[in-house]
Amino acid sequence: MASTTFWATATSMLLFFLFLLVPSSNCVDLESYRSHEVPKSDVDLLEFPLNLEYFEAELFLYASLGYGLDKVDPNLTVGGPSPIGAKAAQLGPVIKDVILQFAYQEVGHLKAIKKTVKGFPRPLLNLSKESFAQVVDKAFGRALKPPFDPYANELNFLIASYLVPYVGLTGYVGANPKLEGPVSRRLVAGLLGVESGQDAVIRALLYERANQKVEPYGITVAEFTNWLSNLRNKLGGEGLKDEGLVVPPSLGAEGKIAGNVLAGDPYSVAYDRTAEEILRIVYGSGNASIPGGFYPKGGNGNIARSHLQSV
Ligand SMILES: *[C@@H]1O[C@H](CO)[C@@H](O)[C@H](O)[C@H]1NC(C)=O
Ligand SMILES: *[C@@H]1O[C@H](CO)[C@@H](O)[C@H](O)[C@H]1NC(C)=O
Ligand SMILES: *[C@@H]1O[C@H](CO)[C@@H](O)[C@H](O)[C@H]1NC(C)=O
Repeated sequence: MASTTFWATATSMLLFFLFLLVPSSNCVDLESYRSHEVPKSDVDLLEFPLNLEYFEAELFLYASLGYGLDKVDPNLTVGGPSPIGAKAAQLGPVIKDVILQFAYQEVGHLKAIKKTVKGFPRPLLNLSKESFAQVVDKAFGRALKPPFDPYANELNFLIASYLVPYVGLTGYVGANPKLEGPVSRRLVAGLLGVESGQDAVIRALLYERANQKVEPYGITVAEFTNWLSNLRNKLGGEGLKDEGLVVPPSLGAEGKIAGNVLAGDPYSVAYDRTAEEILRIVYGSGNASIPGGFYPKGGNGNIARSHLQSV
């Protein structure tokens, strides 16, 4: 008995000292983020995406857990107001698990950006079902009855999610060539990779259901995505940068195929968007100076605020 206890104690002490000697990989990562200067010209470009990352984090956290950053990591909000109208979505176990993974990924993204640049507080977000219904009605050019509710069921929530990571990914593609510093570019490439992955997962799940009717509207999933993408093209105001799940073959890969599980330009290279294009889309106004939609008071940070001052 006594000798068992001795060995147990000795082993745990040894492990403890080894633990002290080995720096945790987390510390190493933070060090590599902080040990490099971020050029001044990169700061606004790196901070801007926080607007979208807050949106994604809150939507996915609420949908999967029923609560958001106020409970999960209040520090990350920097005192910004709580989102309006977000709530748990009716999700089956698999999709709920996937959305919770996305949610924590977005929490990670917020931290990754804030390790690199100071950032800003969470902007006011309107994630109410009415806010999503407004986007859907605008896309179809008529009021759906009953109004679209992203939280009502799994298919609706996947359609609502179709709106989210893709905007972030086009923004990261757009920001990358403007960045000067290697640390900035490394961060944006890493964020782009995961945002694109999220978009691909959502699109693949919807593609499986492309011909399914979204009830009670009798409109297929593919049609929903086409109309939502058309709306984003219209609001963005810079031509074709968004494509639904089923397209005329001329728009598919190599101009040869109607299935469009991933969106891309004629070379299947991801489209890019400027911060201004993104603001026009997420405000729903088509104008970076006119906030609204998911951002009733506009985005935060120098880029978004610079457009609001001109109002
Ligand atoms: C919260 O943020 C402050 C300021 O950035 C920081 O000093 C503090 O350690 C953070 N607390 C936690 C629990 O992360
Ligand atoms: C949230 O958006 C909906 C739909 O546009 C709107 O009716 C509601 O007033 C908004 N809430 C706030 C507080 O802005
Ligand atoms: C955007 O809105 C501002 C403020 O209302 C206005 O001055 C400007 O002309 C608008 N821009 C476009 C392109 O419509």
